[in-house]
Amino acid sequence: MTVETSTDRQFDVVIIGAGAAGLMCAAVAGARGRRVLVLDSANKVGKKILMSGGGRCNFTNMHSTPDNFICSNPHFAKSALSRYTPWDFIALVEKHGVPYHEKKLGQLFCDHSSKDIVRLLLDECEAVGVKVLTQSPASNITLGSPHRLQTPKFSVSCESLVIASGGYSIPTLGSTGFGFDFARSLDIPVLPTRAGLVPFTLEPRQLKNFQDFAGVSVDTVTTAQGTAFRENILFTHKGLSGPAILQASSYWQLGEAIEIDLFPDLDLAEHIQQMQQQRPKLELKNLLGEQLTKRVAQRWCDLWLENKPLDQLTANDIQRITSACQPWTVWPAGTEGYRTAEVTLGGVDTNALSSKTMEARNHPGLYFIGEVVDVTGHLGGHNFQWAWASGHAAGEYA
Ligand code: FDA
Repeated sequence: MTVETSTDRQFDVVIIGAGAAGLMCAAVAGARGRRVLVLDSANKVGKKILMSGGGRCNFTNMHSTPDNFICSNPHFAKSALSRYTPWDFIALVEKHGVPYHEKKLGQLFCDHSSKDIVRLLLDECEAVGVKVLTQSPASNITLGSPHRLQTPKFSVSCESLVIASGGYSIPTLGSTGFGFDFARSLDIPVLPTRAGLVPFTLEPRQLKNFQDFAGVSVDTVTTAQGTAFRENILFTHKGLSGPAILQASSYWQLGEAIEIDLFPDLDLAEHIQQMQQQRPKLELKNLLGEQLTKRVAQRWCDLWLENKPLDQLTANDIQRITSACQPWTVWPAGTEGYRTAEVTLGGVDTNALSSKTMEARNHPGLYFIGEVVDVTGHLGGHNFQWAWASGHAAGEYA
């Protein structure tokens, strides 16, 4: 890899964005003998990789399948995902001697640091002569044969132009939505974007009931628009977060409810009836507290239920308890937005792209990969898997 001071002006491939997708694409195209330039407007490459997974990058998921992705065309991602699988990326991680472990549910994390993944990608790029320039936004892009564009230091012509500029999430990392604007300027359709994998906020009236629980988590099955996730929710100062909530947020639309089953392994009504026989003098709050923690169970009783010994509960009481807990129906006020969202839902319409190569159908030699495309993964390493797979697909053809 050569950094800065390059006077080269002709490349086979120029990639805008040195994130996960862009660097993967660069390494694959470079390995085919293509002369590749990667431009990034930020002062260092792979900033999202560095901050991902709490600094340890959840770089893939062993159980990743097309069902883990949201896209207006559910078939679009299948081709790229099947040609570059989690096992391909794991092989790369092992080739570079990066130690890793499974945390849970197939999620693979670096043992030490996300820096290992950025290093791996840069080493792959360097080995095949890819040039990577930081603090180099592209401007004055004109498509043609060749395409032309301007960097702050020189102008460039190239046969293939790859847009790997990510989405809107975490604007403080330099996410600007450049790729969406560029696509629109070419009349390539961009589907409405919104924050995904993001905490929910609650109305003040609702929030005051739970605000003092910030940091408390509960095992649940959380459902939005019929899609259910068995994971924890976490109470926060602003509302609700935790893996189940982040997953649900990608399916939720403003004005809808989410359903949180607080007793995921039980039919609660049946359980209460059984316990009425076995432990008749047990108080309701103590029974609920066995799953919810004492504090949460006490609050539920204060807010919506009457705490009584189980043998005094009527059929109506049991009905009221189950409708407060199984599920607990929550109407979020909104989300925390792009400021804390892990991903951007929506983006460049996949109908405008080839699923084999990621090339724009009406613009030969122009490719879109990674988060800028309307493909969004579930929490747990799937978004990086899409970045690797789409980057690899374009890298084979660009
Ligand atoms: P990405 O955003 O990574 O890269 C785009 C690059 O383009 C950036 O370097 C940017 O500076 C550059 N750029 C933008 N505009 C430009 C312009 N005009 N000119 C030049 N360069 C430009 N996923 C996962 O699978 N596991 C995880 O553990 C996590 N964790 C996580 C934590 C946090 C806090 C966030 C915000 C996100 C995650 N993700 C994640 C999601 C994951 O980070 C995301 O899906 C990928 O980084 C997307 O990769 P891309 O390469 O498409 O975009």
